[in-house]
Amino acid sequence: MSRSKYFDAAWQRTHFCGAVDEQLEGKEIIVNGWIRRRRDLGGIIFIDLWDHKGTIQIVVSPEVISLHERAKSLRNEYVIAVKGVVTKRPAGMENANISTGNIELIVNDFILLSPALPLPFEIGDETDEVDETLRLTYRYLDLRRDRMQKNIRMRGKIAAFTREYFDSKDFVEIETPMLTKATPEGARDYLVPSRVNPGEFYALPQSPQIFKQILMISGFDKYYQIVRCFRDEDLRSDRQPDFTQIDVEMSYITEKDIQELIEGYMSGLFKRILGTDISTPFKRMTYWEAMDKYGSDKPDLRIPFGLSDLAPVFSEAEFEPFKVILAEGGVVRALLLPGGAALSRKEIAAIEERAKKIGASGVAAFQFKDGEIKGPLVKYLKSSGLEDLKKISNASDGDALFVMAGSDKRKICERLGTLRLELAKEFRLINEHSWEFLWVTDFPLFEWDEDESRWSAVHHPFTSPNLDDLDKMENDPGNARSRAYDCVLNGSEIGGGSIRIHDPNVQSKAFSALSFTPETARERFGFLLDALSSGTPPHGGIALGLDRIVMLMCGAQSIRDVIAFPKNQRAQCPLSGAPGVVEEKRLEELNIKCVPVKKAEKKC
Ligand code: AMO
Repeated sequence: MSRSKYFDAAWQRTHFCGAVDEQLEGKEIIVNGWIRRRRDLGGIIFIDLWDHKGTIQIVVSPEVISLHERAKSLRNEYVIAVKGVVTKRPAGMENANISTGNIELIVNDFILLSPALPLPFEIGDETDEVDETLRLTYRYLDLRRDRMQKNIRMRGKIAAFTREYFDSKDFVEIETPMLTKATPEGARDYLVPSRVNPGEFYALPQSPQIFKQILMISGFDKYYQIVRCFRDEDLRSDRQPDFTQIDVEMSYITEKDIQELIEGYMSGLFKRILGTDISTPFKRMTYWEAMDKYGSDKPDLRIPFGLSDLAPVFSEAEFEPFKVILAEGGVVRALLLPGGAALSRKEIAAIEERAKKIGASGVAAFQFKDGEIKGPLVKYLKSSGLEDLKKISNASDGDALFVMAGSDKRKICERLGTLRLELAKEFRLINEHSWEFLWVTDFPLFEWDEDESRWSAVHHPFTSPNLDDLDKMENDPGNARSRAYDCVLNGSEIGGGSIRIHDPNVQSKAFSALSFTPETARERFGFLLDALSSGTPPHGGIALGLDRIVMLMCGAQSIRDVIAFPKNQRAQCPLSGAPGVVEEKRLEELNIKCVPVKKAEKKC
């Protein structure tokens, strides 16, 4: 088959495949695109030609023999240019599933622009569950699928709206360096060796946190940036090693200003992109309220049930193990499962097993059935206790209750919170059609790091303590609250921010609570401490996870489906083969020697 030497204006498309309609009937047009499907029906060749606007049916009749012969050797994903006449499809042959379903293009001529090798997977079949490694290896083909086209294009629209919104609010977009010093956000850094400074390394930014604060000190007042961040951490469906933040910082503000700004952004974005009305202000809940009620600091409010505190019931009951736990300062908490009374013994046992997998030492079930309460602990409760159980847990006839007890309140709540999510998914109790936004506030400032035996920052070390808890930074770090807030959507943390420390003395205290000696604090963050000492407006900000927002808005299951070229679960790019081995000579230039890693030791 002859291929055109040049693609010239004579073959340039006059219309997109997906944009041809009946109004063009009788006209000769040119379309360019990929062959999605080719069928030979009784001598007539039908071709579905695809471009990013849609598909058009091309018809090559056997009457023009030379054309028909050439068309026989066309295969899927060949790129062709077609000249033909728009014609109404014969009655009964219309296809209501595509925008061009009432017409077809009767070919006058076509040329092959580029052939394609046999495909590793079918592109047209969106229902086909193709192995993800294969999809990522041949990402250029995967991105040709309608679903991926829709996701990546929506991402572009979201980024465009973001710039429009922040620009309209007088924010300045400022780029911050990629080759920089470590900014702690709780993950490991990706390090880049410096050739001209032997033995020294840059860190890729985990976030532009310090630079955006410095921009406030420099008088920019309102900053934003759509920015790449890099974190070397365990990967999940909502985490990538390089990901994108919508990073924001403002001077002379309180929490309310940032929250209102983001509520305006989110409601504008959902209206523009999905045509959906989002009501503002968003709900607000403190960290401990969220843990107590839902067992999570990012509760999914689409799930219509939660946790309750059964201490009043079990402190009076004759069940010794729970009594002891409560007497020693522990907790007894329960998760309600609407409709759970219908579960069989076997199903209840399976839930108990599941709770153990989550980490619970045990779980006790109650079932509220036909006006009675059933379960192994019923015999330990008086009738008033049983009444309280029902009242406190908000249970109705037909429900079940799963109870856990233990010394660590946070762990017990988190386990019940995980069970809540799993059961809601299994029993389809999530309202999939709602958008539940929430601000979680008053996070603890510090948490105890068992591995390092020291306090670490729940957000980052630059987060302001609640002004009432300033003394607790030294005296009672575990109970100091911060001025941090997370933005949660349908159980995903889509953003996190805080009011910052703008007083260098308080910042030094925070470093000291985090076990930095004055010398290490100065060595790592001296430039920030100096900047804070040079006239600093009170300031605060937030960073939104762009990938997660796009994922939720597209209805995708993983952020890998909304990133054009993502890494797999092992932080590899199967398309390009990164990361890769580097030539000895390049390493020498960088003064780096690699210790050979035995295959078995290799993590990846
Ligand atoms: P934080 O660490 O909470 O805050 O990050 C902000 C938001 O970024 C998203 N995110 C991620 N998305 C994909 N992959 C990852 N590995 C990943 N890590 C985080 C989340 C998260 O809510 N400097 C602070 C912000 C501030 O205080 O202004 C920061 O980076 O949606």
